[in-house]
Amino acid sequence: MEEAINRPLVDGRIGCRRLVAADKHDVEEMVTKYFVPNDIISLALGKVYAMEPMAEFLVDYTKQCVTNNASLLAYNIETGENVGVILCHVLQLNDDESMDEAEWKKEFKEKGCTLIPGKLLATLNKDLGKIIGTKLYLRVSISTVKPSYGRMGIMSGLRKRIELVAKSLGCDFIVSESTSLYTQRIASKLGYTTENEMKYSEYFDPLSGTYIFKHIPAPHQSVKLLVKRI
Ligand SMILES: CC(C)(COP(=O)(O)OP(=O)(O)OC[C@H]1O[C@@H](n2cnc3c(N)ncnc32)[C@H](O)[C@@H]1OP(=O)(O)O)[C@@H](O)C(=O)NCCC(=O)NCCS
Repeated sequence: MEEAINRPLVDGRIGCRRLVAADKHDVEEMVTKYFVPNDIISLALGKVYAMEPMAEFLVDYTKQCVTNNASLLAYNIETGENVGVILCHVLQLNDDESMDEAEWKKEFKEKGCTLIPGKLLATLNKDLGKIIGTKLYLRVSISTVKPSYGRMGIMSGLRKRIELVAKSLGCDFIVSESTSLYTQRIASKLGYTTENEMKYSEYFDPLSGTYIFKHIPAPHQSVKLLVKRI
């Protein structure tokens, strides 16, 4: 299985391997430099709130993924430069974890704007249990490719290759909340089904009391809950 995971992603040019703790610095840099400034959700929040808390939240999240053995890195075979990453977690649904509206508002007061995407995604995921029950699943959390390596098929390759990682970890499903039209296209080409969709123009965020994602620019229109049985 490891040999198949490590096969090149794009011709002989782009390699693939599991993320290890030693990649922490590079991956944090990729998330900070390439994901945060291009992530449409962070950009929408940044119009109203300071960007730093969101960037810190995402970097903290990244730190959890570098040691969990469930994430992949793409690298330039010739130079060794890291060029793309897909950060994932193995999870199991647990009803006890859901919060009611009052709890969300209390947490929002304490933690601030980083809770807003969490609330959006919790709403998107509310019926996920009806589809996957309590089976183990791999959740794709953050994925990004360096702009100078864009449109080479790297993210498509990482998305396909992560299926082997999910299988190796005993998962029955891969789940992603896809906020960008581009990753939605990639996932649908790979056979994911759309199990829920929320349009940015219609989503009222109860924490800020606003339609905070209303101005997300075209072509991105909605966040989709995408699921693939593997
Ligand atoms: C979105 C992103 C991950 C795509 O990575 P990538 O390696 O360039 O993607 P691929 O080369 O595999 O693209 C596959 C398909 O996605 C679509 N796509 C990807 N980037 C696109 C772009 N900038 N414009 C239009 N379509 C795009 C295309 O349909 C493309 O197929 P094609 O090249 O045959 O037309 C990358 O641009 C990125 O990191 N963006 C910033 C962070 C982000 O949005 N992450 C995802 C959040 S859910």
